Amino acid sequence: MAEIQLRSISKRFGEVEVIPGLDLVMPDGQVTVLLGPSGCGKSTLLRMIAGLETPSGGEVLIDGKRMNEVPPADRGCALVFQNYALYPHKTVRQNLAFPLRMAKVAAAAQKESVERIAETLELTPLLDRYPRQLSGGQRQRVAMGRAMIRRPEVFLYDEPLSNLDLELRVRLRLEIARMQRQLKATAVYVTHDQTEAMTLADQIVVLRRGRIEQVGSPLALYRTPANLFVAGFIGTPRMNLFAIEAAAAVAGGTRMRLGETTLDLPLRLPADVATLGFRAEQARIGEPGPGEVAFDLHGCETQAVEQLGDRAFVYLQSTLGPLVLLAPGDGPALEGHLRLALDPAALHFFDAREQAVTAETPHP
Ligand SMILES: Nc1ncnc2c1ncn2[C@@H]1O[C@H](COP(=O)(O)OP(=O)(O)OP(=O)(O)O)[C@@H](O)[C@H]1O
Ligand SMILES: [Mg+2]
Repeated sequence: MAEIQLRSISKRFGEVEVIPGLDLVMPDGQVTVLLGPSGCGKSTLLRMIAGLETPSGGEVLIDGKRMNEVPPADRGCALVFQNYALYPHKTVRQNLAFPLRMAKVAAAAQKESVERIAETLELTPLLDRYPRQLSGGQRQRVAMGRAMIRRPEVFLYDEPLSNLDLELRVRLRLEIARMQRQLKATAVYVTHDQTEAMTLADQIVVLRRGRIEQVGSPLALYRTPANLFVAGFIGTPRMNLFAIEAAAAVAGGTRMRLGETTLDLPLRLPADVATLGFRAEQARIGEPGPGEVAFDLHGCETQAVEQLGDRAFVYLQSTLGPLVLLAPGDGPALEGHLRLALDPAALHFFDAREQAVTAETPHP
């Protein structure tokens, strides 16, 4: 059992308050991803859990025990950072065994642990090489192995993959996911890469300026973002967002105006609804079918096409602003007037304070 709890945790560096006071539970055996833009305080939070940074206020608890006064080495946390440092004059085997040697583990048990970890991380053929004889990804796996070898209850990762090329990043991301499922250790994983977050997380914590914007599973954040920031941050490509100029209740729902476009929705919405959002993958180019509504776009100009092979994301400019659509085939240039078919259930709405508002289906 190693649940991590942050209670009213805060951090200031001199005059600058980086984390104003935050409560968070990272459940036992799950991967919690801290996601947010650069400088939002992700590493600072992680370092406070590890004991590398002293909180200005509040408490860090692991397994119910207060950790504030416990030195980093005694917290049972394994750290995997972006800049992994291996001992250059030790072989992979010696690097892996080092934490066990320090802990005075018997030689036979050391050997067994090293071989087991090497097996898990596919390092067995590399055990007698030196770090300079390894690729970046192999080195990173050795660093992870060394962190894992004492079977810690908690893994703390700070952007461990950001120095690697894309292909390796994808492979190691899957490897970490597999390893975490196998170990069932509690993990906190810091990243600003939302694909990494969507792949690895049981729970994602979206942070902005040291505050929590939303906590939830990857799908919950994708489907029901709590505010405009999360809506814009989760999902690739970014959600299309449009300013609503006016919205009025009419029989059977709401009529809203966005520039030259009038949208009739079978939904009841609060009068202060300010922004409409939908994702590229949820808009179909063409006439609406049963249950769908029409959304007209004017003055479209294609600006870029991202080929997916059988489909393409088309990035457009329109009189309502920029947007992206998912088009079948190889991404035709979309120009002038376009009609989209939208499922009302796939639309997102936000009020003037940028908070999500729920639409109700009126009863007939
Ligand atoms: N030792 C320090 N002294 C002063 N300010 C600091 C210190 N460490 C971090 N900060 C500031 O605290 C804020 C949060 O930093 P932190 O490293 O936690 O961000 P981050 O979310 O990890 O960003 P990134 O994605 O760029 O790694 C930043 O504005 C940073 O400049
Ligand atoms: Mg950081």
